[in-house]
Amino acid sequence: MTQPDALTGGVYRYPRYYAIGYQWNTEAECDFLEACLAKHVGPEPAAVLDIGCGAGRHLLELARRGHRVTGFDLRPEMVEFVNAEARNAELQVSVSVGDLRRMAVEGTYGLAICLMDTFRYLLTNDEILRHLECVASHLQPGGLYVTDFWVPRRWDQIANEIYQWEQTRGTTTVRVFYVQHPDSVDPVSQTFEDELVLTVEEDGASRDIHGERTRTRLIMPQEFDALIQASGAFEIIGRFSDFDESRPLESDSQSWRMVSLLRKRP
Ligand SMILES: C[S@@+](CC[C@H](N)C(=O)[O-])C[C@H]1O[C@@H](n2cnc3c(N)ncnc32)[C@H](O)[C@@H]1O
Repeated sequence: MTQPDALTGGVYRYPRYYAIGYQWNTEAECDFLEACLAKHVGPEPAAVLDIGCGAGRHLLELARRGHRVTGFDLRPEMVEFVNAEARNAELQVSVSVGDLRRMAVEGTYGLAICLMDTFRYLLTNDEILRHLECVASHLQPGGLYVTDFWVPRRWDQIANEIYQWEQTRGTTTVRVFYVQHPDSVDPVSQTFEDELVLTVEEDGASRDIHGERTRTRLIMPQEFDALIQASGAFEIIGRFSDFDESRPLESDSQSWRMVSLLRKRP
């Protein structure tokens, strides 16, 4: 049995492993996004903005399905990886480095998405409100914004959860550990640090890749509603416990995530 060998520098320096670890439900998630577009915007392919696109799983899949996609991410390594994947697959995409706290995008979109917890990098109410206003200003009338982030299933699990899953592509297996650090909780700002750790098994060797501890914000469902109302920019037209229109978020959903469907107000 090979001993794990530590690779330092953060998971984002290894976008290929990140892409494998996060590949899981992408097609179903894109089916959901397309169903939202068809129902609320129209049946034609749309202009889509992926905020914090990571290794580009949604953006690349949506481009394959004929949508015009634009995306940005804070990490240049991720952006480089997505552009290389798009070139290899001969897909037209526009992806650059950017920060969701100070968005500098151009264009008008039918759909914006901010998925898999990226929205929780907005740490203060002011940052959230400014962000909502900015996203709305880049949406066409009636355009949609889909957010997806962790909410605790039980109150005693706040900032105290560890998620773990495993994905395999070819001969590479990536185990993803998403660890929240209870020692970092700031109960006033409702923030704490979380960390991604990837364990990669490839070519008979096993390696651990440690992420950096990053401060994120806890946003509870009622608080999110209040922020959306306060922004005046959006109305909430759906709230789900998964990327599935038949599964609304309910008290007994036992889900660790809240997927919100927002529509730009006239
Ligand atoms: C958990 S990943 C999710 C990626 C992708 N949305 C997905 O579903 O696979 C979070 C991503 O947010 C990016 N990120 C973190 N802070 C950000 C910021 N301030 N602005 C833009 N992207 C950010 C990270 O680099 C990372 O790629």
